[in-house]
Amino acid sequence: MDKNNVYAAILAGGVGTRMGNVEKPKQFLNIGGKPIIVHTVEKFFSNDSVDNIIVLTPKQWVNHTKDLLAKYLPASDHIHVIEGGSDRNKTIMNAIQFIEDQYELNDETVIITHDSVRPFVSHRIITENVECMEKYDACDTAIAATDTIVKSDNNEYITEIPDRSLMYQGQTPQTFKAKKLKETYLALSEEEKQKLTDACKIMVLKGEKVYLVEGETSNMKVTYPYDLKVAEALLEE
Ligand code: CTP
Repeated sequence: MDKNNVYAAILAGGVGTRMGNVEKPKQFLNIGGKPIIVHTVEKFFSNDSVDNIIVLTPKQWVNHTKDLLAKYLPASDHIHVIEGGSDRNKTIMNAIQFIEDQYELNDETVIITHDSVRPFVSHRIITENVECMEKYDACDTAIAATDTIVKSDNNEYITEIPDRSLMYQGQTPQTFKAKKLKETYLALSEEEKQKLTDACKIMVLKGEKVYLVEGETSNMKVTYPYDLKVAEALLEE
């Protein structure tokens, strides 16, 4: 895998409504005295299989993010901060557009997309995601479900209990051949786009295989205030 053709997209375009009333989006809150987004970018910056990093934030946070990265990381031409999109997949499409405009988008270009609010991603997970692209066009990081998953079609009572041994919980990174992902996304109807919950679903809806990379429980996502406490505790470990 040509490292120069591997781009990490750190997705930080959300505003963190589930975190409640905080003064800034959750990716900018501190854990261990340092913003979550900085912990996350550091992981990719120090990983040998990734060369370029594109950080995507809401427009009004772009300059703040540049300042933070300048403060905590060595100066580098390989880190870019740009504006994200109105939903998560549009944020990913902005990253692909940036690659196309500033570098080159070819059949082998790899984009490893990662939630800015999963700072504990391991080097093993990042490397396996990138290696997976030697054989496949898409992969997702997931862990086997520990709780039984129950389904309710009406939010009132259970309509199905799927076999737990077949259930996984999706994490990130999710990694793709970038050109293929863009083309597949553009081929979706508006109705299909409404059904999207994450980027892997773009591929699944069009019948493309998405391979599994084994995730880790510690690769948690900071979503609610409680998660901040868990993250602080994990950092102390
Ligand atoms: N994200 C993004 N662009 C968007 C929306 C979300 O890059 N338009 C990113 C978030 O910044 C986050 C990741 O996708 O790093 C995972 O999404 P989630 O945890 O749902 O973040 P938010 O949308 O910020 O949170 P909430 O749903 O509570 O508002």
